[in-house]
Amino acid sequence: MSARNYMLALLNQRRSGHSLAQPFYGDPDIFRLDMEQIWYREWLFAIPACELVKPGSYVTHKVGDYRVIIVRGADNVIRAFHNTCRHRGSVICKAAKGNAPKLVCPYHQWTYELDGKLLWARDMGPDFDASQHGLKPVHCRELSGLVYICLADDAPDFDAFADLVQPYLAPHDLSNAKVAHESSIIEKGNWKLVWENNRECYHCSGNHPSLCRTFPEDPTLFGVDGISLQLQTHFERMEAQGFPSRFQMSDNMQYRVTRMPLLEGAESYTMDGKVAVSKFLGRIADKSAGTLLKFHYPTTWNHFLADHSIVFRVTPIGPTETEVTTKWLVNKDAVEGEDYDLKRLTEVWTATNDEDRRVVEDNQHGINSPAYEPGPYSRTQEGGVISFVDWYCNAMGDRLRPTMLAAE
Ligand code: FES
Ligand SMILES: [Fe+2]
Repeated sequence: MSARNYMLALLNQRRSGHSLAQPFYGDPDIFRLDMEQIWYREWLFAIPACELVKPGSYVTHKVGDYRVIIVRGADNVIRAFHNTCRHRGSVICKAAKGNAPKLVCPYHQWTYELDGKLLWARDMGPDFDASQHGLKPVHCRELSGLVYICLADDAPDFDAFADLVQPYLAPHDLSNAKVAHESSIIEKGNWKLVWENNRECYHCSGNHPSLCRTFPEDPTLFGVDGISLQLQTHFERMEAQGFPSRFQMSDNMQYRVTRMPLLEGAESYTMDGKVAVSKFLGRIADKSAGTLLKFHYPTTWNHFLADHSIVFRVTPIGPTETEVTTKWLVNKDAVEGEDYDLKRLTEVWTATNDEDRRVVEDNQHGINSPAYEPGPYSRTQEGGVISFVDWYCNAMGDRLRPTMLAAE
């Protein structure tokens, strides 16, 4: 049976409201389909735009087999290109990040402009047409200071997402941010387990002592199981100040925004609950603004607070290995040691990420056992997980079914 038909058979047998069958969490053929059908086709959050501080600043990123350069041009426009030379294919930018006036291939020094045009190639003869050998572009969009890329030839619509999210993000002014700290950890678990864990707080009280000082575990506050009166009151209070807050989710459940309160009296994700940065990032001065939650499958979940913002990026490395990159963004004029203390800013989510890594790895180990069988999600606590798994199964089913029918 082909991998496609195998996955379709598994999707057809799926029990809704239950975790997935074992192969979804580790089978190399299923993982390859995940990459081809989801990761090489969807819009992917890559970096905060502020990371590219000036023309020539670049960041490289690897998604499955693809390598990408994201670079700020001389015109300040952020573009993305395949990090594969048009001569004989060498990787061009090897560093994770840097700054370069031109992009020069290390192999034979073909030299590209920051907008991808081939500027110089030595001894290629009179018939060589440099205009036909520019870097291959990757779809790239900047949304209120967040850079998204798409590896597909034809990218899916981005505008509906951008139109919905832009008013929520605008007050956070991410274009005037800087990265105060970043961390990348490898979780030895399938990327879907990373997401399933992220989409619920059923595990929080047993695993996240630091986060639980400020983050409420009540699922009605994330809009998972309806909108509680407390949440509705928070929306109205924040919207009266001009900050879009109400829960909104796309019809296909791929993305959502909502601004939720933290625990009574809590202002930010710190051990004492007080703000971590005295010079705020963005226009929200209200310390009880809580956190703007945003997720967009398959790459990112985010917290935008009054004082700072945190962006998370998920990247599958292999069937049971996933990279989670976290970046703490603060006002670009905030000074470390004066306006914020780095340990205080980062300690809650550094601990939380490591605790999440541990539970995801434990989950993967248990699933690898032949004794594993899909178990039921809690409808009151794990509605977010149900919605993630439904999004994934619907997306895969829609993409694989036409091919199977055509092949029959
Ligand atoms: S492979 Fe890049 S210049 Fe030759
Ligand atoms: Fe967690």
